[in-house]
Amino acid sequence: MTTALLGIDIGTSGCKALLLSVDGDVLATGTATYGLSQPRAGWTEQDPSLWVEGTRKAVAQVMDQRRDVKLACIGLSGQMHGLTPLDKDKKVLRPAILWNDQRNAAEAAEITRKAGGIEALIGRTGNRMLVGYTGGKIVWMSRHEPELFARLRHVLNPKDYLRFMLTGELATEVSDASGTGLFDVKNRVWATDLIEMLGIDPSLLPICHESHEISGQVSASGAALFGLPAGIPVVGGGGDSVIQTIGSGVIAPGDLQTTIGTAGILAAALDAPSPSPDGRIQMFCNVAPSKWHAMGVSLNAGGAMGWFRSVLAQAGRGDELSFEAICDAASESPAGARGLLFLPYLNGERCPHPDPVARGAFVGLTARHTLGDMGRSVMEGVVHAFYDMHALMKLMGIEGKVIKASGGGAKSRLWRQIQADMFDCDVVTTEGAAEGAAFGAALVAGVGVAAWKDATEAAGTIRALTRERANDSARDVYRKGHRIYSDLYPALRASFSALADPAFAD
Ligand code: XUL
Repeated sequence: MTTALLGIDIGTSGCKALLLSVDGDVLATGTATYGLSQPRAGWTEQDPSLWVEGTRKAVAQVMDQRRDVKLACIGLSGQMHGLTPLDKDKKVLRPAILWNDQRNAAEAAEITRKAGGIEALIGRTGNRMLVGYTGGKIVWMSRHEPELFARLRHVLNPKDYLRFMLTGELATEVSDASGTGLFDVKNRVWATDLIEMLGIDPSLLPICHESHEISGQVSASGAALFGLPAGIPVVGGGGDSVIQTIGSGVIAPGDLQTTIGTAGILAAALDAPSPSPDGRIQMFCNVAPSKWHAMGVSLNAGGAMGWFRSVLAQAGRGDELSFEAICDAASESPAGARGLLFLPYLNGERCPHPDPVARGAFVGLTARHTLGDMGRSVMEGVVHAFYDMHALMKLMGIEGKVIKASGGGAKSRLWRQIQADMFDCDVVTTEGAAEGAAFGAALVAGVGVAAWKDATEAAGTIRALTRERANDSARDVYRKGHRIYSDLYPALRASFSALADPAFAD
């Protein structure tokens, strides 16, 4: 029998399960998609039962493909910052409030004020309280849903809810804990004095493991629910955007990683925590102990492409154009999309502009622009946002010589080439990274049961798949374009804010 590791990722648009051999070969993958609800502009929610159902389906797919494997360990990954509230009976109190939800700007500002300002907060946790972090959502719930809040006993992240359903344990790990904004990232423990000072009951938050540590075993009810053998160990795992880096082999300083999923992430691994001066770059614990993780997160990357496709479908009153068809049309347009720029801030933004009312924009449209130009400018706009984040990372001394591209967007050769040209460096994809965060979760599970000595050895199994090299003439066009792009947000900020007037409410 082949010994295998199971990685499960609770994404925003679906769940992925992946079986990995202890030699680093992907044996099977399964996916199940689900939707999210947007009850009001800027709000995003998901019923945790969708994650359970998605996991049941994705796990059944992989286990059906490989009945010959003996499972050694399970690793969990998931969308970060999602407030999943449970009552005293550990029942879900309301739909989870997701990472890209923008409702808690006032509460994030209040926390910052109480903590003595952004700098003091960064000194305490390593991070500012960005809108969307779990800490602000807890305070939001206390203000806006006092009856539900009175019944709140446990706050979990999405993958930690799945852990609870699998094992019965209430636990998290250092990377997802970092994303609450209530965690002392330098010392890798809850920032209890800050939590108490904010009037939050520390017992709401679960115990916290390192990512490779065993957090529990599949219980009898978990086994029945998910069709898995009871007793299999489950490691801490990690938040998707952090665990994705080990899946790409980004474990030492020098490499950058981009992920184009719903969000767009530029990340780097660090040997020591070094918070960004104004907290726009997130500083989190890495899934490898004694390592940290710096990242900029744009809320709309693949999400912007998804929006573009669905708008085209509405215009044509037909099926969505495939991602590949848009990439083909975009390849007909030259670098710079004939002077068309796209700001991807469709759902507010986090990095480089922490602004919940920021908006998207096409700037520079002429009657000559085609669908291909528009598609290309959406792709370029996402990479311009990465380039903005890179400028902030440079201020922290972080620079990369290679980009490791991952997420659904990395499947597009054109999107990889745009990154190579704009950053003027090689862009590579690696075998497992194409499979997303479930691959990293399986690697961390392997470290948990000593299939690999540590995360560095696990990352060493990763093989390169493709490589794009920079093209000088395109780089020059992008540099010119970027100067114009970076002037746009400051020029439009007041208009974005004015458009948030309730007179224009949906
Ligand atoms: C990270 C973040 C996103 C989500 C979505 O800070 O907000 O990466 O985890 O997947």
